[in-house]
Amino acid sequence: MEDFILSNGVRMPKIGYGTYLVEDDAGVSVVKAALDAGYRHIDTAAFYGNEEQVGQALAASGLPRGELFVTTKVWRDALGYDRTMRSFEASMQRLGLEQLDLLLLHWPTREPGDPESPALCLESWRACIELYHAGRVRAIGVSNFLPHHLLPLLETEVSPMVNQIEFHPGYTQQATVDFCQAHNIQMAAWSPLGRARMLADPLLTELAGRYGKTPAQICIRFALECGICPLPKSSSPERMRQNLEVFDFALSPADFWRIASLPPVGWSGLHPDRPRAAL
Ligand SMILES: NC(=O)c1ccc[n+]([C@@H]2O[C@H](COP(=O)([O-])OP(=O)(O)OC[C@H]3O[C@@H](n4cnc5c(N)ncnc54)[C@H](OP(=O)(O)O)[C@@H]3O)[C@@H](O)[C@H]2O)c1
Repeated sequence: MEDFILSNGVRMPKIGYGTYLVEDDAGVSVVKAALDAGYRHIDTAAFYGNEEQVGQALAASGLPRGELFVTTKVWRDALGYDRTMRSFEASMQRLGLEQLDLLLLHWPTREPGDPESPALCLESWRACIELYHAGRVRAIGVSNFLPHHLLPLLETEVSPMVNQIEFHPGYTQQATVDFCQAHNIQMAAWSPLGRARMLADPLLTELAGRYGKTPAQICIRFALECGICPLPKSSSPERMRQNLEVFDFALSPADFWRIASLPPVGWSGLHPDRPRAAL
C-alpha cells in the first residue's frame, strides 16, 4: 500500500477501511477481515459505537502497532475543550491504544446554525493541539469542515493536517478540495462510493466495462487520482479486497474529466450549516 504524506511528515496509507455501521458482535470479525485483506488504515469514530470492536480486531490481528494507522473522531456534541479531552480519553480506552495516529473533529457545528459552535470548535482545536504536542496523537485534523470553518483554525499554531469530507463521483465539493489542497491539508473521502448510490451510474458502469474493473474500483481510483484518500466500507471480504485492487490501472485524462464533470448526483443530504436535506 502506498502512503500519502501529511504536512507534518506522517505517512497515511492511501486507502483506509471505513467502519461506519460495522458494529455489534460481528464488528470484530469484519474489521479483522479487513486487516486480513490488507487494510492498514482503519477509520472509526466515537459516534460509530464500534471503537471497542476495532480495538479488539487490531489486537487480534497480531500486526505490529507501527504498521497500523488508526483514526477516530470527536463527535459534534463533544465540541469544547473539556468535552474533547474526555471524548479522546474515552476513545483511547475503548480502542486500547496508547497513541492514536489521527484525531479528527467530526463536524464543525453542534447542530446547523448553532451560534456557539465556532468558539467551541476553536476550544476543541486547542485540545487537539495539546494532545498533538504531548505525543498522544501523531496527527490532527477535521471532518466536514468547509473553507470558512477552516479559516480560524489556520490562524492557530498548528494547522489541520487532514479534512475528511463526503466525496465521490457526482459530489466532489470542489471549493473545499481546492482550498485544502492549496493549504496543504490532505483530503480524505467518506462515502467514496456514495454509500453504493453511485454504483449503478451509467458512466461508471460504462467505464467499469471498458477498464475491466467494477464501478466501485472506478470510484476509488478517481478519488486517488484527485489526490484524495478514499475510505470505502464493505462487510464482504471479497469486496474489501476488490476495493484495494486499484493500483494496476489509470483513468485516461478524458475519462477522468468525464467523471469529474458528472452532474450533481448521489449527495447524502448532509451539510454542516444546514438541516439534512430531504432527497
Ligand atoms: N466523517 C464523516 O462524517 C463520515 C460520514 C460517513 C462515513 N464516514 C466514513 O467513511 C466510510 C465509508 O463511507 P460509507 O460507509 O458511508 O459508504 P461507502 O464506502 O461509499 O459505501 C459503502 C456501501 O457500498 C457497498 N460496497 C462496498 N464495496 C463495494 C463493492 N466493491 N461493490 C459493490 N458494493 C460495495 C457496501 O456494501 P457491503 O458492505 O455489502 O459490501 C456498502 O453498502 C464510513 O464507513 C466511515 O468510516 C465518515
